[in-house]
Amino acid sequence: MSNRLAVLISGRGSNMEAIVRAAGSGRLQAQVVGVISNRSRAAGLDFAGRAAIPTRVVRAADHPGRDAYDQALDAEIRAWRADYVALAGFMRILGPGLVDRWHGRLLNIHPSLLPAYKGLDTHERVLAAGDGEHGASVHFVSAELDGGPVIARARLKVNPDDDPDSLAARVLRLEHQLYPAVLNLLCTGRLSLERNRIMLDHNPLTQPLELEENGELR
Ligand code: GRF
Repeated sequence: MSNRLAVLISGRGSNMEAIVRAAGSGRLQAQVVGVISNRSRAAGLDFAGRAAIPTRVVRAADHPGRDAYDQALDAEIRAWRADYVALAGFMRILGPGLVDRWHGRLLNIHPSLLPAYKGLDTHERVLAAGDGEHGASVHFVSAELDGGPVIARARLKVNPDDDPDSLAARVLRLEHQLYPAVLNLLCTGRLSLERNRIMLDHNPLTQPLELEENGELR
């Protein structure tokens, strides 16, 4: 099975941790072959190290220019013979060359119900708009920021007393269920991207999957 997975982080790495734990328990049939951070102090690197997962730091300062940076990143990922790459709080925009090369094999998680609220500060913006619903999305990465085909979403109700922190914490708990579940579809060969169309079990996916309360995608 092609299920060698590289994870890219920039900070806390709680999604990476959820991915590693899911792989360890068999909920995610993948081998996490390495974790890359663009920041040497990313807290997530400690967890990965303790879990005996190879880690690399690829800093922009050492590879000036987007192409040079992306090439350095690609070289590390390839050295691990990764089949798939999961962006998990990786705070750098990847260039079209890298995105094309990993077309259909590069995923991202974003804390909003895409296509709503691309970009930063999603929890603040949801509260400011007075939305009743919020959540997280996993999508294939395209050249447009947070704009690739959406595979699955997890949603929750916004409470009247929510503030950005409480909302972020609740969305994050959903992210930790959603990302491993979607990656499992990818790593077991059930999910693919064909001519920019998402295919699930060889059928086009006409609308994003939803994470149910029991943790299943429907
Ligand atoms: C998550 O909210 C993720 O959706 C976003 O960045 C955050 C990363 O958190 N892309 P963590 O580093 O996984 O804890």
